Amino acid sequence: MKLILLGPPGAGKGTQAKRLEESRGLKQLSTGDMLRAGAEAGTALGREADRIMKAGKLVPDGIMIDMIAERIDKPDCQRGFILDGFPRTVPQAEALDAMLAKRGQKLDAVIEMLVNDAVLVDRIAGRFSCAKCGAVYHDNTKQPKVAGVCDVCGSKDFKRRPDDNAETVRARLQAYHQQTAPIIPYYKIKGLLRQVDGMADVDAVTRQIEAVLEDL
Ligand code: AP5
Repeated sequence: MKLILLGPPGAGKGTQAKRLEESRGLKQLSTGDMLRAGAEAGTALGREADRIMKAGKLVPDGIMIDMIAERIDKPDCQRGFILDGFPRTVPQAEALDAMLAKRGQKLDAVIEMLVNDAVLVDRIAGRFSCAKCGAVYHDNTKQPKVAGVCDVCGSKDFKRRPDDNAETVRARLQAYHQQTAPIIPYYKIKGLLRQVDGMADVDAVTRQIEAVLEDL
């Protein structure tokens, strides 16, 4: 199965992708995580991406398309994958169609997570994650069960993203509405678009997504 989770920053794409990875054995492909790994490694591309991410802007299409084209051929994607953060522009969506067609593959669904902008700054400002396994938490709504210890891997090391501040979030939201939202009608016309209420609690969103997948 090949899915896209679509929604603005803080919609819950990463949270739900990790759950689907566990429940369905699909590989989460987060372009944001890939870019952050490049930035941490200090590659030339990583440093450039870091600058763009901190400004809340989008990394150029060609870089992102090459990154995904190379990634989907890896063995861990053979059972299927969940794209989290890609595509983010119409040219990226068109390139994805072309790269899948070239491989005799196709998308099964694009799941849009509907969330009001008003809650997103709060969701993002409160977010932190396990530095070892990437499990996502929130200061107010999802603390680890044992304070300071990751529920998933037991690590005591947590981190926050440098682009998770109010000013950058506003720029990221603007980029979403101007550059990413046009892919919604693109997928609607193709009959691939499904929508879930991303304002519901995390478990309820998971149930909605599972219902969509059962229906496919
Ligand atoms: P990326 O890493 O993709 O960030 P994003 O799209 O802005 O999304 P987030 O990761 O912030 O949010 P999310 O939807 O995953 O929410 P989460 O589950 O963590 O991209 C970062 C940057 O990289 C971009 O700005 C761009 O510069 C660049 N980039 C990446 N891909 C690119 C591309 N294809 N093209 C060009 N540039 C690209 O949840 C957020 C918080 O809310 C968490 O604390 C969570 O616990 C909480 N939460 C989740 N669900 C719920 C719920 N239902 N109720 C209450 N709280 C919830």
